[in-house]
Amino acid sequence: MKNLMVFDHPMIQHKMSLMRDKDTPSKVFRELVHEVSMLMAFEVMRDLPLESYELETPLGPATGYRIQGKKLALVPILRAGLGMVEGMWQVVPMARVGHIGLYRDPETLQPVEYYIKLPPDVEERDVIVLDPMLATGGSAAAAISFLKERNIAHIKFVCLIAAPEGIEVLNKEHPDVPIFCAALDERLNDHAYIVPGLGDAGDRLFGTK
Ligand code: PRP
Ligand code: URA
Repeated sequence: MKNLMVFDHPMIQHKMSLMRDKDTPSKVFRELVHEVSMLMAFEVMRDLPLESYELETPLGPATGYRIQGKKLALVPILRAGLGMVEGMWQVVPMARVGHIGLYRDPETLQPVEYYIKLPPDVEERDVIVLDPMLATGGSAAAAISFLKERNIAHIKFVCLIAAPEGIEVLNKEHPDVPIFCAALDERLNDHAYIVPGLGDAGDRLFGTK
């Protein structure tokens, strides 16, 4: 599959398995989403440009490196994307955070938009879209289309679990957007839930079921 990076690190796979377990309580589920998002952030940010500068260690001069002033925005898709924000933000605290509110209509499975708030200079920023689940790909594709209408040139999509169907849709509609996921699952079921997946990510994060 094109444009796809699946994280096979043992720490991530360990935490993903705890997250999938139906007996994992909401508090622990939230902590796991936070931890995996933070671990993923290191690889997602791998292409951040560095600049060199001169510094003094106790033993003398050395060349140091720092992240150049790259402007970033994290954009969670509400609700479930919220669970991934803090973990990523800990790694890139200089990022701004925008929000896109979408829910998937249970009948039509089409994404319905209900809230948008982005940083005013968002078109100058590289944007990282966050949503734990990439199922049919409808929500992610709609959110990315909206961002592109705002002239955002560099967009990445980060999720925890992806279905092959969702990856195909994103690759087709947004071939320029790299996808990062912690697990690539088998398929969707008849209700477009990811199998084996982890169930409804929003409900498990916020205890609404
Ligand atoms: C879930 C999930 C994604 C979407 C994925 O959100 O967080 O946004 O479904 O499905 P798709 O790839 O088929 O579009 P949901 O609509 O359940 O809303 P919620 O986050 O408010 O629970
Ligand atoms: N949304 C979820 O929260 N889980 C799925 O498996 C599919 C869509």
